[in-house]
Amino acid sequence: MQMTRRQFFRICAAGVGSSSLAALGFAPGEALAEVRAFKLARATETRVDLSTAFGAGADIIWADASAIRQVLLNLLINALQALENHEGERRVELRSRNSPNGSVILEVSDNGPGIPPEQRTRLFHPFVSTKTKGMGLGLAVCADILHEHRATIIVPDIGRPGATFRLTFPCPPPSS
Ligand SMILES: Nc1ncnc2c1ncn2[C@@H]1O[C@H](COP(=O)(O)OP(=O)(O)OP(=O)(O)O)[C@@H](O)[C@H]1O
Ligand SMILES: [Mg+2]
Repeated sequence: MQMTRRQFFRICAAGVGSSSLAALGFAPGEALAEVRAFKLARATETRVDLSTAFGAGADIIWADASAIRQVLLNLLINALQALENHEGERRVELRSRNSPNGSVILEVSDNGPGIPPEQRTRLFHPFVSTKTKGMGLGLAVCADILHEHRATIIVPDIGRPGATFRLTFPCPPPSS
């Protein structure tokens, strides 16, 4: 039996399971803190300062918490990998805040080598990787999960060295 692209990514995003998007609310700060705790030992081992900054008001995301944890984990793993050969101070920051229109914004930011603007869109396509052991699936899984939540992911220019992945969740919650 042939698998669709979507089914394939669902299996790759292990632990996500079948998600109902119906009014599942969770605190983004908690999800970011959990993901940080999960990778803190690895970060410490590799001399990465892994910090969080939770903005006031970013209190609820209407989404499947386990799926969004998977997204954040993929982004955090990428950030830690990007810093592996980085000389000097290594920093990753996990942030949450509200945008002026009420959307919730989450960011995973590192001070690694960054990503040239012309490469940013294609990274979300499957099997695009610059790593010797990378499958190139992490960001494609993220994009797929976020699409299901009607959320977006971009790599904005924030005027600092490194890479920032910005997730924007609509508010009010989607009706389906
Ligand atoms: N924080 C980052 N800094 C610099 N480059 C990044 C960062 N995150 C992702 N990339 C680039 O995007 C590519 C695709 O990332 P993606 O997570 O999809 O795949 P991967 O990490 O290579 O492999 P996999 O996630 O399947 O193990 C990476 O190979 C890397 O070149
Ligand atoms: Mg990856």
